[in-house]
Amino acid sequence: MVVRVSRHGSIAVVTVHNPPVNAASQAVRQGLLDALERTEADAYAKAVVLACAGRTFIVGADVREFGKPPVKPHLPDLLARIECASKPWVAAIHGSALGGGLEAALVCSHRIATASAILGLPEVSLGLIPGAGGTARLPRLVPADKALAMIATGKPVTASEAEKIGLIDAIAEGDLPEEAIALAQRAASEPLRTPLAQRAPLKVEDGAAFEAAAAKIEAKAGQQHAPRVAVRAVRNALELPADAALAAERKAFLALKADPQSRALRHVFFAERATTRIERLKTVRPRFLREVGVIGGGTMGAGIAAACLLSGYSVTMVERDSEAASAGEGRVKNVLDGSLQRGLISASRHASLLAGFNASDGYDALSSVDLAIEAVFENMDVKKEVFANLDAHARPDSVLATNTSYLDVNEIANSSARPDRVIGLHFFSPAHIMKLLEIVVTDAASNEILATGVAFAKSLKKVPVLAGVCDGFIANRIMSAYRREAECMLEDGALPWEVDAAMTEFGLPMGLFQMQDLAGLDISWAMRKQQAATRDPDQRYVDIGDKLCEMGRFGRKTGRGYYLYGATGHAIPDPEVEALILSESARKGIVRQRMTRGDIMARILEAMQTEGSAILDEGIARCGDDIDVVMINAYGFPRWKGGPMFMKGQRRELQGERHE
Ligand code: NAI
Repeated sequence: MVVRVSRHGSIAVVTVHNPPVNAASQAVRQGLLDALERTEADAYAKAVVLACAGRTFIVGADVREFGKPPVKPHLPDLLARIECASKPWVAAIHGSALGGGLEAALVCSHRIATASAILGLPEVSLGLIPGAGGTARLPRLVPADKALAMIATGKPVTASEAEKIGLIDAIAEGDLPEEAIALAQRAASEPLRTPLAQRAPLKVEDGAAFEAAAAKIEAKAGQQHAPRVAVRAVRNALELPADAALAAERKAFLALKADPQSRALRHVFFAERATTRIERLKTVRPRFLREVGVIGGGTMGAGIAAACLLSGYSVTMVERDSEAASAGEGRVKNVLDGSLQRGLISASRHASLLAGFNASDGYDALSSVDLAIEAVFENMDVKKEVFANLDAHARPDSVLATNTSYLDVNEIANSSARPDRVIGLHFFSPAHIMKLLEIVVTDAASNEILATGVAFAKSLKKVPVLAGVCDGFIANRIMSAYRREAECMLEDGALPWEVDAAMTEFGLPMGLFQMQDLAGLDISWAMRKQQAATRDPDQRYVDIGDKLCEMGRFGRKTGRGYYLYGATGHAIPDPEVEALILSESARKGIVRQRMTRGDIMARILEAMQTEGSAILDEGIARCGDDIDVVMINAYGFPRWKGGPMFMKGQRRELQGERHE
């Protein structure tokens, strides 16, 4: 039985039991409808408590039902009936009340929650808006600006915020079921509250602030449809009678459900959750980790150390000498100071995190670490020396990881006395912020070590993706491929600012050439010079990047790169660069062709997809979904487009439909 009804004196308790997260599946909806009929007919029940078993309240619709034809009873109809019950209903909320879960709570006459509960309407993150009355009812309960923020940004509120804005009646100080029953008893002795759908919306207190917040959400949405539709829905709730607002919400919800953006976002939702469902690790228990060692305290080492500290690990950093150790310590402190200034951590937490950190110039300091992550210079000899030191000083059962971007992780592992305990943990910069963590699977890595890497990533609240050993793993390898293609386009007819405009119009956060200027052109120039002798002479090589460096144009830091940078740091197209590019095309005898933004993006996408397919064929990535997750979380590929491999599948589907 997914919904049970019991009675405690004069109070009926309706309990949903649909593990793991009490999704409002068809069985739950039917169960609730039956429970409503039963409690309405029960003359001894004076009020009803709606509660959930397990770890949470209802967290929303059953996303697995999304692709299928809807089955009765529909949630909006069910909730409309509960709202008109002849006796009070009290929602007893623990865990999360999200989406359809919060909508169910909104049709109850009273709401009580545990202090740790969160309440939200996150549908926009799936390209949707709430579809069971949430947008029409919430602005009739809480101030308009709060309703707007919850509905159009999808950000949940804590129980204490919920109490402050009037979303819940009380926070349970002790036992939730007991206090919910007590609240129901009080509610039964009072006049029945008017259902939200029969009330007027609350008056907008500060119209200008509301408009400013709405404009900000719309601007941030860019090409995304759902946040704009959400803003419209809140306006409807404020301007229309409730039944008209409810009808408009339903129509907008159904339109969004069929929108390709929502399909793409739902694909990403599942893909991100599936990266850790790894067949070979199914029955493997990860090791317990408490102390982390980080070798190298530069950009990455400091970011990794901060990420670990912020997730509750104690961290020891080892640098080359005491001066470098204190510089590394300074960088870690800077990151934590930033978190403090942005209000992400309290002053006392800041102090306790720093107390859990220690920087040293000797490997002895690593004798007790459970996991050591190396982030020293990108040089094989330096890395091997570090692993030799780890062999000598770290515990024989500790996990060893390298953060290398391009070096052969198998070669690094094989230089260690215990290759089975070595993996790659490839973070992205800034390491304490970027969500992606590529777990590089070496030939000898044991399942236990791999499972530990995956669990470690999760503990840092990152998205782990398994990657095989190759030049650049998944993310950097695909980026190199489309960067090569973009460079070829410069010779074929495009200019850097045209390529960049095509990419940002597509929804990427930054164009490739601006990104390279930001990173500095000299580092990749040095790398290309190193690789010159071994480069495949048949592969097309574009010299423009090298020539820019020869002109002293190293990017933003020198004020000139692919662009010119004015005093404000603004990227400006530069005639000198254009002249260089035109002369390079002429030198190679290429007749430049005009390219539209669409042409440019089509070539970039194809380069991503071709490299993605090669990566799949070689077994570097487990599946196309993992590649999509990587591109979204490493390079800001627009989530609402689903990722390059998803787009490739969609194109095939469309072509298939046309052929049928
Ligand atoms: P960095 O140059 O900022 O830092 C390297 C640090 O390692 C320096 O502080 C240096 O003193 C220290 N170091 C060098 N040899 C050492 C040794 N034998 N023992 C202890 N410390 C030593 O370099 P960054 O950018 O932090 O990169 C580090 C590693 O992370 C490289 O392998 C790089 O490829 C990789 N990586 C870099 C990313 C980035 O965006 N910068 C992204 C992902 C990976």
